[in-house]
Amino acid sequence: MDQMLRCRVVAADVDVFSELLFSHGACGVVESESDGTSVHLDCSFDAETPLERLAGILREHCERQGLNAEIGVVQLDDSWKLQWIDHLEPVDVSPSLRLVPSCAPSVREPNALYLEPALAFGFGEHPTTLMALRWLESRSPRSRLLDLGTGTGVLALAAAHWGANLVLGVDIDLPSVEAARTNARANGLDERCRFVHTADDAGDGDFDVAVANIDARTLATLARSLCERLAPDAALAVTGILEEQVESVCAAFARCGVTLKRIDVEGDWVLLGSTV
Ligand SMILES: C[S@@+](CC[C@H](N)C(=O)[O-])C[C@H]1O[C@@H](n2cnc3c(N)ncnc32)[C@H](O)[C@@H]1O
Repeated sequence: MDQMLRCRVVAADVDVFSELLFSHGACGVVESESDGTSVHLDCSFDAETPLERLAGILREHCERQGLNAEIGVVQLDDSWKLQWIDHLEPVDVSPSLRLVPSCAPSVREPNALYLEPALAFGFGEHPTTLMALRWLESRSPRSRLLDLGTGTGVLALAAAHWGANLVLGVDIDLPSVEAARTNARANGLDERCRFVHTADDAGDGDFDVAVANIDARTLATLARSLCERLAPDAALAVTGILEEQVESVCAAFARCGVTLKRIDVEGDWVLLGSTV
């Protein structure tokens, strides 16, 4: 990747704008500066994405939706990746889990997961990741778990840390799959965690816990294939959804026989869940 989008958005619009970025394929979005009234976001996409064209499409969306955002394409030099990571801080998810955005040191903290610097999404700083982690903590032990849209593998690895027997993480973005595998090895969780690209064989069998933190449109599209992988009595949570998208996501899962309910809310973001 040698380019990214750099955006300035009015603080009140930041969640809606972030969702717009994810629904157009953003792999990662990092808040690089904020002065209280506006926020600067650095957004990475896979190398094949035509960013100038995408920036034009996003500007049209913003105009239609009344979002106040400036969107530009910037060239990256080698130091950018490090600057990205510089903005990340450790996140204390619960007394039993701290997420540290760095390579694993030789002496590890007992409840820490180390997420190596990468351009994948998911260092625990986003409200949707935090809600999914809170939901996962009590459900992970002894489970067979699916993490759809795994990014850095943060949810999958947290589930394994909390005692899941077997975890499958899936992502459409190959660098994310590679980052998740690296993170699994770095944390000694690679025996219980497998990460695959959507084009790979995701194996057979049902899952008794499934979590998906992806944008609302993608969730609606994937609802059937996701529901088909759930065991009877499975627990499911989906997030990456804004309040105004709840109805359409619920409708998509209802068509597959799954009733979703609001379980958690952070700012404009919602986590929906169900016992199948
Ligand atoms: C918002 S990130 C979530 C990352 C991580 N699970 C977390 O909770 O922080 C969404 C991820 O879903 C992936 N994704 C988008 N569309 C997908 C699809 N159709 N199938 C699988 N993964 C997808 C993206 O590449 C991205 O890594």
